[in-house]
This record gives sequence, C-alpha cells and structure tokens, in this order.
Amino acid sequence: MELKGIDKEILQKIEESELTLENIAVSTVTELIDMIKISEKDAKKLLSAAQNELGIQPVTALQFLESERKRGKITTSSTEFDGILGGGIWTQELTEVAGGFGSGKTQLCFQLCINVQLPFDEGGLDGTAFFIDTERTFSPKRIIEMATSRGLDVESILENIYISSAVNTHHLFSIVDSLAETIQEKNVKLLIVDSFASHFRSEYIGKERLVERQQKIMQIAEELVALAVKYDLAVLVTNQIIANVEEFLFGSPEEPALGFAWAHRPQQRIFVRKSRGSSRIARLFDSSRMPEREALFYVTESGLTDAPFSSDFYT
Ligand code: GTP
Ligand code: MG
Repeated sequence: MELKGIDKEILQKIEESELTLENIAVSTVTELIDMIKISEKDAKKLLSAAQNELGIQPVTALQFLESERKRGKITTSSTEFDGILGGGIWTQELTEVAGGFGSGKTQLCFQLCINVQLPFDEGGLDGTAFFIDTERTFSPKRIIEMATSRGLDVESILENIYISSAVNTHHLFSIVDSLAETIQEKNVKLLIVDSFASHFRSEYIGKERLVERQQKIMQIAEELVALAVKYDLAVLVTNQIIANVEEFLFGSPEEPALGFAWAHRPQQRIFVRKSRGSSRIARLFDSSRMPEREALFYVTESGLTDAPFSSDFYT
C-alpha cells in the first residue's frame, strides 16, 4: 500500500493488520488507534490521507469547479465535436460512444489514441493510449495514415499505443484487473474498450442470464470508473445499438445496447450516426455537464476533421 504523506512504519503496520484503504477511510480515529496501534496524531493524518486517496472528502462547489477546469480533455480533432463535449473527451470519467456499423466509433478511437499523445496546448495529454480490442479491428495502417497526414512522428505514435485483444468477457476482466501497473508505468491517459458490448451480448444470451450479465457489466463499469478517477485518465468504451422497442424512451428507433443497468454508468453518452458521404453526426445525449446537442464531423483519410480536406488543403 502507498499513501501520500504516511510513514513507511505505519504502512507496514497497516499491511500487518490486513486493513484495506476502504476499511481505514470509514473508520473513526479511535478505531484506528485501537486497530493499528498508532498515536492519535498519526491516526488523524492516516484517516484524512485514506479519504483523500479515495476522493471522499467533501469539497466546496468552487473547489469542484476549479478541479473541473484543470481536468484533462482529449481533442477529437473536430472543433464542433469538441464543442458539444465541453472541450473533448474528459479524464476521470467514463464516456460511451454508441452507434451502428460503420458509424465511425472505431475511427474516433484511433484518432483519440493519436491525440492523447499530443502536447497539452495541442489538445492532448502528453500520455499514451491503451486499446482493448474485442473485435480485432485495430488497424496500425489507419493509425499510420492519420499520423502521417498530420505530420507526426509515426513510429513514436505507434510505440505509445498499447493493444490487448480480449477474447471473451473473462479475459476482458483479467486485462482490466491487471491494468493499474501499466497505467502508472507507461503514463496511460486514455483507456479504450472497443467494443465493450460485443462479448457481453454474445456470451450472455437469453432472459435467464440477463441478471448475471447486468451484474458483470456493472462490476466492470465500476472498475473502469475507479481507474479513471484514481489515475486521472479518460476511459472510452464503444457500444452497439439495438432496435428500440419502446420508442418513447429514447425518442428514436434505435438505442444503445446493454440496457438500463448500464445506461446510468457512463458520465457522458454519445450517439454517432452516418450522414451524407463521409459526414457523421454525434449527439451528446446524457451528460450531467452539457446540454443535449449535436455536432457534424467527418471521417476522412486523414482521420476526423471538421470539414472534408480542410486540414489537408488549407494548412
Ligand atoms: P462497427 O465496429 O462495425 O460497429 O463500426 P464502427 O462505428 O466502429 O465503424 P468504423 O469506425 O470502423 O468506421 C468505418 C467507416 O469509416 C467506413 O465505413 C468509412 O466510411 C470510414 N473510413 C474508414 N477508413 C477510412 C479511410 O481510410 N478513409 C476514409 N475516407 N474513410 C474511412
Ligand atoms: Mg468498430
């Protein structure tokens, strides 16, 4: 266990007592003195360190606002798309991108894998990307095309994208469980699961397995949010869409898959759909921060753009 500002001897005592960070954070000072045999001063310090680490100490709305301003955002490469998201894909939260076949979900993921590596003043986080691929659609060729067209160092871009293929949900869980170390070591600032829905939908079939599926989805969603918060990274998962049998709920004939239990997990939910030619429409439809709005963007050879070829021809 590591805890900011807490001496090694105390950490050693905690380990011997087999208490978890959560146990400590919800204890009283007296309980801590009793359980770990430390002084009152150390117990107070330990309690607030544990609560800080878990992010459960209250803050004022002003402090909250300041920390929101400081939160990292990764540009999508489309100003209009960034606009509806409040600057791009945010760290410390889970973003869902749902859409039909060929709507551009994977292309957006590729673009973000590149953009997260950009310096802060260019819309990046100076970090690396971790791409969990469940459909084996990761394409180095597309990354090379996108990076080349923007004059980036292609080799370095490829070096800073870690890819792991998840063959089933069990494997997905084990990859996510073992991510913490890599995230810290490699300065991962973007974690992608593309597609999040596919294994869950193909493995848990039928009404009798629905409850189990929902539990698994909730569990992994919680783990993803915890990683996002603890390591200050953006987590983006893609979802498929299904026919909406109760149209009044979503106001459209299609809705994201995985049901209600999942629906409340992502902090931001985006729906992408094809429009004319290479244009796509993104709709932010469930955000506590931004109103429901739509943005037009394009998927071109060079990646995501505001208008086709504008970046290629006019810069
Ligand atoms: P599924 O994974 O099938 O659910 O779809 P998706 O939403 O992930 O689709 P994806 O992001 O793979 O988008 C595929 C679409 O992107 C294609 O139909 C093309 O329209 C576009 N696209 C892919 N590669 C290129 C390219 O090199 N040039 C251009 N102009 N468009 C491309
Ligand atoms: Mg895809």
